[in-house]
Amino acid sequence: MKKLFVFVVLSVSVLLLTAQDTEPIHIIPNPSSVIKGNGELTLKMGMTMSVEGEGIQHVIDQFKERFLKATSINLSIVPSKADFQFSLLKDTDPSLGTEGYRLEVTASNVIIQANQPAGLFYGIQSFLQLLPKETESNTALRKKKAGAWKIPVVTITDTPRFGWRGLMFDVSRHFFTKQEVKQFIDEMVRYKFNLLHLHLTDDQGWRIQIKSLPQLTDVGAWRPKREGKWANTPDPAPDEPKNYGGFYTHEDIKELVQYAKERFVNILPEIDIPGHSMAMLAAFPDLSATPGTKYWVNAGEKFMEWPAGAHFYALKDNNLSPANEKVYQVLDKVFTEVAQLFPFEYIHMGGDETAKNFWEKSEEIKELMKRENLKDMDAVQSYFVKRVEKIIRSKGKKMMGWDEILEGGLAEGASVMSWRGMKGGIAAAKANHTVVMSPTDFAYLDYYQGEKTVEPPVYAGLRLQKAYQFDPLPDSVDPKFILGGQANLWTEQIQNFRTVQYMLWPRALAIAESVWSPKERKNWADFVNRVEHQFDRMNHAKIRYSTAMYDPIISARYDAQKNLALVVDKEIPDMDIHFSIDESNPDHTYRKYTDPYTLPKDVATVKFVCYKNGKQVGRQINISVEELKKRVR
Ligand code: ACM
Repeated sequence: MKKLFVFVVLSVSVLLLTAQDTEPIHIIPNPSSVIKGNGELTLKMGMTMSVEGEGIQHVIDQFKERFLKATSINLSIVPSKADFQFSLLKDTDPSLGTEGYRLEVTASNVIIQANQPAGLFYGIQSFLQLLPKETESNTALRKKKAGAWKIPVVTITDTPRFGWRGLMFDVSRHFFTKQEVKQFIDEMVRYKFNLLHLHLTDDQGWRIQIKSLPQLTDVGAWRPKREGKWANTPDPAPDEPKNYGGFYTHEDIKELVQYAKERFVNILPEIDIPGHSMAMLAAFPDLSATPGTKYWVNAGEKFMEWPAGAHFYALKDNNLSPANEKVYQVLDKVFTEVAQLFPFEYIHMGGDETAKNFWEKSEEIKELMKRENLKDMDAVQSYFVKRVEKIIRSKGKKMMGWDEILEGGLAEGASVMSWRGMKGGIAAAKANHTVVMSPTDFAYLDYYQGEKTVEPPVYAGLRLQKAYQFDPLPDSVDPKFILGGQANLWTEQIQNFRTVQYMLWPRALAIAESVWSPKERKNWADFVNRVEHQFDRMNHAKIRYSTAMYDPIISARYDAQKNLALVVDKEIPDMDIHFSIDESNPDHTYRKYTDPYTLPKDVATVKFVCYKNGKQVGRQINISVEELKKRVR
């Protein structure tokens, strides 16, 4: 009898616990305020929705379609007392600003309110993350379970920290189709990014149709196909077929701009000049200051040197000439069409990594320096940037450039995108210029993200935890000059969209939280937990991501007796690292790393696996003792 009593009490407690303890909230970026209630809303067929406000039909249509796909529930519109209530407050709640929202899930309905359509859209993105993870997939499973799906009761109030929440996509080094760009947009808006920076031109391809200059794409968009290692290929043969490339027509661009707009994303176009211009020079060789150079679209072969500790230089002049009036005439035509195609207020003119070694030898540039009283190469570059700024301004747009545009004096009205750390951005903000922070040390998503011997080779690394430390607002500047932050995905080494995803996620989640969430709502351990839930969702959504955050951080040192000792760190809390030294593949029963471990002399390879909550996470990493010796600090 006593046993039965205990059993009944236990069972009732378990029931009570489960009733109250529904799915925790795992939204990324972390909302400003989350107040979890008791109970849950059960989804069922025949649910209804009501819509109050103008200009939000496209937002509602997208939601309706997404929700139908996710749950098989076809929401019908009713005038009031709906299960889903969307309403525009028309700026009656100033605390929500233009992008904020309030999302309330009760046991009987869902209410999303915002001042502006964008806010409703973000409220919907948060709501979608409250749905069970299975709703991310298109499988028949969802139909079976729909009636049983529950959403936790919660009240969320949320506004973004920054208005510029960007991702840069380099579509020049490798070309990505219009459909892939749309997919990129679909994935970024899940996490409330609102700015897509398209890097449209570079040495390896010109990707935007300019109707008044058809050569730019006839010639500049095509090169011989290369699939091997970047910067490891011989020069293309003159008669080699130019079978790799592509570009966006005006119609494509209009379609992308519209697609982005419907998802509250602005597109920032970048035409990267005066450096990074080999594709343009392939079409117009006489625009460089080095006559007689044989130009073609670079297919990945090396043409720049980056000596350690010294200034970089070009092996072949890839710059437009600042001394040639024809350059400005051509650029005027380019920016006329770019300005017509992209409604966003800014145009990005690149301005980065302009090698000066060919300019230094050019007679026409020496004459320009004399004529314009330019004392050095920085002044020459600044002269060029200022002329370009005038052209862009004449098209009714504001100019943005990488932080090199500060060198030699910043053009009036120019905005700076700070990539070589934050210092350029700080200097520009102190001079009353607006700034987007996009520093390599926190926000370069082309860098490898875990153990470098198993990651695709890149010259630098950026782990998730470092990306999570990104804060676009330095203490020393007036916040009004910091538009926000951005992460950049350069694609020299990224040849397909699955790899794009692998490089974006989860690091772009860290950036999303850094640009949206209040600083005090950021917490690494909590973020990791939410990332793992996003992984589950991405599995269902078939979005690829990297598990490199689980890679142990492996180094070594010599102990007092000069023996090599293993030193291992990790960025994921509550994770155990096990390793073998006997060439076998380890599991959780193997030696667990706790302290520096002196390696016996006969060890050739150390193999690692990681476990969390009793399950293997991430991948096995094998490191040779030779490699370990190179890592001795
Ligand atoms: C850059 O990474 N060169 C802007």
